[in-house]
Amino acid sequence: MGKSERLQSEKLRVAVIGCGAIGSLHAQAVVQSQHAQLTAACDVEPERAEIVAASASANAYNDFEELLSSEQLDVVTVATPENLHMAPVVRSIEAGCHVFCEKPMASTFTDAQRMADAAARHNRHLAIDYNRRFGFGYLKAKELCAEGAVGDIRYVVIRVTEPLTGSKNGLEAHSIIKNVLVHHIDLMRFFCGEIRSVHASFSPRGGVDLTHDAAFSFRFEGEALGTLIGGWQEVPRWTRTSEWTEIGGTKGTVVIEDVMKSVKFWSVDPDRIEHFRPNFFEGQTTFYDSLTNHIHCFLERLAEGKTPLVTGRDGLRGLEIVQAAIQSNQAGQVVDV
Ligand SMILES: NC(=O)c1ccc[n+]([C@@H]2O[C@H](COP(=O)([O-])OP(=O)(O)OC[C@H]3O[C@@H](n4cnc5c(N)ncnc54)[C@H](O)[C@@H]3O)[C@@H](O)[C@H]2O)c1
Repeated sequence: MGKSERLQSEKLRVAVIGCGAIGSLHAQAVVQSQHAQLTAACDVEPERAEIVAASASANAYNDFEELLSSEQLDVVTVATPENLHMAPVVRSIEAGCHVFCEKPMASTFTDAQRMADAAARHNRHLAIDYNRRFGFGYLKAKELCAEGAVGDIRYVVIRVTEPLTGSKNGLEAHSIIKNVLVHHIDLMRFFCGEIRSVHASFSPRGGVDLTHDAAFSFRFEGEALGTLIGGWQEVPRWTRTSEWTEIGGTKGTVVIEDVMKSVKFWSVDPDRIEHFRPNFFEGQTTFYDSLTNHIHCFLERLAEGKTPLVTGRDGLRGLEIVQAAIQSNQAGQVVDV
């Protein structure tokens, strides 16, 4: 066997289940990874599976059970709609695969718990795609925190707007929180550690039975505090999420604009301001580079025998905090989590 064939055979064999918008990005990231090869793609819509499979001369399937019984796989990535994550994740784990699953981990806590239990029972890794942690802005901010430039973190403030095109009909009542702000709740934990309690207020705007805007106040296990405010932005055509984050510490403040655009650091000395921007030559310019980075990091860690950086525990914790926030809004009280 030649060197390149041997290296090829040592690569992780990966399949993508769910080949829509996000699954197609999973497949691209796998194809680019030096640690993996895309072996198969699966979607209930045959054409979608075929398009993704053709991008890497991989096999196409329309049924994930058939995929799992026909292929020798090391890893499965799951990008079906969130109410359909549980079955492909649990069955892939039972078939011996490590799994990378899109956020939110599931649409119910019971499903998410089954997924985490399956991973623990079969000793497989389960990663959840909180990809913002891997975007230029949040990576740089984490680096500044880790090197001590920010000092002890006292607070995090995040502001988010999510474009809403067309009708609100069909949107689940708390969709803005479960599908979008779950990312920012995760970022709160990423920077400040574990959340101890949450107080939340939701506003329906216009009397519709849909949370339009939501404000959260968090207390962390240390002494830090967090504020998150986010909502829908009604727009004529799809643009993209807009967000702004400030992290304040005893030695300085970091502001992250738009995940991938810019990071500013103010030390307590007001004359010391630093401005960081992504390097265009490294291609870190679009939001979904954060997803590619996450998949690359996940595959590299698997190849090195390491635990993923964002696990099923983080996915479960995100859903727990979302539930606590819904309860807090209903009861008008702080809820411990
Ligand atoms: N990380 C992020 O930034 C981000 C952004 C958007 C969406 N998401 C998440 O990604 C997931 C997918 O979202 P999307 O926008 O790609 O949706 P999508 O509708 O474009 O794609 C979902 C695909 O899954 C397929 N599918 C459904 N049931 C299946 C099954 N049993 N077996 C195989 N395929 C099946 C559908 O046919 C479809 O092609 C969701 O969980 C969503 O919340 C993540």
